Amino acid sequence: MSDTSNTDILDISQSPKKFQSLRGFTDHLPEDHEYFTLIKKAVRHRARQAGLRRISTPLLEETGVFTRGLGESTDVVSKEMFTMTSRSGKSMSLKPEGTAGVVRAYIEHGMHTLPQPVQFYYIEPHFRYDRPQKGRFRQFHQYGFEVIGERDASVDAQVIHISWKILKDLGIAERFDLQINTLGTPSARADYILALKNYFYGKERHLCSDCQNRLESNPLRILDCKEEDCQILSSLAPKMQEYLDAESKDFYEKLKEYLQELDVPFYENTRLVRGLDYYSDTVFEYWDRTQGAQNAIGGGGRYDGLVEKLGGQHTPAFGCAFGVERVMMHLKEAGITPPPKDRIHVFIAQLGEEAKKKAMRLVSDLRENGIHTMGAMGKSSMKAQLKMADKFGVDWTVILGEVEVRNHTAIIRDMAHGRQEIVKMETVIPEIIARVGKENVDIYQLGE
Ligand code: HAM
Repeated sequence: MSDTSNTDILDISQSPKKFQSLRGFTDHLPEDHEYFTLIKKAVRHRARQAGLRRISTPLLEETGVFTRGLGESTDVVSKEMFTMTSRSGKSMSLKPEGTAGVVRAYIEHGMHTLPQPVQFYYIEPHFRYDRPQKGRFRQFHQYGFEVIGERDASVDAQVIHISWKILKDLGIAERFDLQINTLGTPSARADYILALKNYFYGKERHLCSDCQNRLESNPLRILDCKEEDCQILSSLAPKMQEYLDAESKDFYEKLKEYLQELDVPFYENTRLVRGLDYYSDTVFEYWDRTQGAQNAIGGGGRYDGLVEKLGGQHTPAFGCAFGVERVMMHLKEAGITPPPKDRIHVFIAQLGEEAKKKAMRLVSDLRENGIHTMGAMGKSSMKAQLKMADKFGVDWTVILGEVEVRNHTAIIRDMAHGRQEIVKMETVIPEIIARVGKENVDIYQLGE
C-alpha cells in the first residue's frame, strides 16, 4: 500500500524545490572568510595587547535581558528583535547586540569579585529584523569590547584608541570620522529630555511620523533623525551641553585631552545620541566620510547604569562594537586584499596502485611540513590530473608513476613553464619547501 501522506517522497515528475537563504541572511563563502580572518586577527591582536579576554554569550537570551537592558522603546527592541516562545512559555530573543548579554554574564558569574575592571572582547553573530539593504543584514557579526568596573575617562579614551588602531591596522581608518559627544549623567539626561519635550511640544506636525512617536518614547532619537524637517527643528533645539553637571563636563574634557594625547582625531558632535537607552556620558560613532550617519561602521559609549539595571551592584562600564560585514565592505572598496592563506601550493599526481600509496604518504608528509597540498586520488589519466592541477592554480605538481616508484624518485613540474625536474624521493619535501618559500609554510603550534 502506498503512503500518499508522506510529502517527502520524491515526485520524479517535479524537480525538488531549490532553497535559498532567508532575506537578510547571507552566506560567508570561503573568499569572504579571508577578510573575516584578517579582521579577527587584527581584533584579537589589539585586544590581547590591552589585556582584554574573549567572551561568547549565547545567541538566545531571555527577552528581558534586552528589553530591560536596551530599553523597550528603542528601535532595536520594539521593531528589530527576533523573539520566540519556548515550549515552556518563556519569551526568548536572538541577541540583537552584545553588551546586555555580556553584562548578564558578568553578574551571573559573580565577576565583580575579580580584579576590576574586567575586560572582554567578542566576535559574534547578532540578529536584527532590519530592512535588508547595503551594509544592513538580519544576521550580521560584530566585534566588540566591554570594560566593566571602572569609571575614568582614560578607560573610554583607551578603548576608543584600540578601536581606531584596528581600523588603522586594516588600512581603512582614513575612510571614517570619529564623532564624539557626551550625554551627561542619567539625572542631567532626564532634565535634558524634559527640556527637549517642552521644545518639541507644539511643533509635532513638522516632525516625521516616527519622530512624532519618539517625542513621547525616546525624544533624544529625534536629534539624529535623517529627515530634513526634523533635522532643521533639531538644530534649534536646546543643547545637551547646557544641562551637563560639573562632573560630566569635567569627564568629557578629560576624554578629549586623553584622545588628543593618544593622537586619535575626533569631531565633537553635540547631536550624537546613539540608539540604545543604556548610555550616559561618553558616546561615539565612526561615520563613513562619504555617507555620514548612514551605515556607521561602529560605535559605543559609557553605560554606568546597565549592570544595576540588570540586577547587579552599581558598576560603571564602557564599550563599543563594530559591524564586521561593514568593515569587510570597506576593505573591499578600498582594494585591500587579505593575504591568500587558503592557496594550494602543490598538487600530487599519481599513476598506478603503488604510486598511489606513495602519493598518499607524500600528501600527508607535505601537509605535516606546512605545505598546502592536494592530491588527485581518483583513477583519471595523467593528462586529466595535470589539467586539474592547472585549474586549482598551483605552481608545482609532484608526479609519481610506476618508474618513479621503482627508482625512488619523483618529478617536480613547474606548472607555469612546463619544466620538469627529477628529484630523489627523500628530497621532495625540502625541494618543495625551498620553492614555496619558508615564509609561506603554514605550520602552527597549538597555543600560538
Ligand atoms: P550599534 O551601534 O547598535 O551598537 O551596533 C554596532 C555596529 O553594528 C554598527 O555600527 C554597525 O556597524 C553594526 N550593525 C548594526 N546593525 C547592523 C545590521 N543590521 N547589519 C549589519 N551591521 C549592523 C551596539 O550594538 C552596542 N552594543 C555597542 C556597544 C558596545 N556599546 C557599548 N558596548
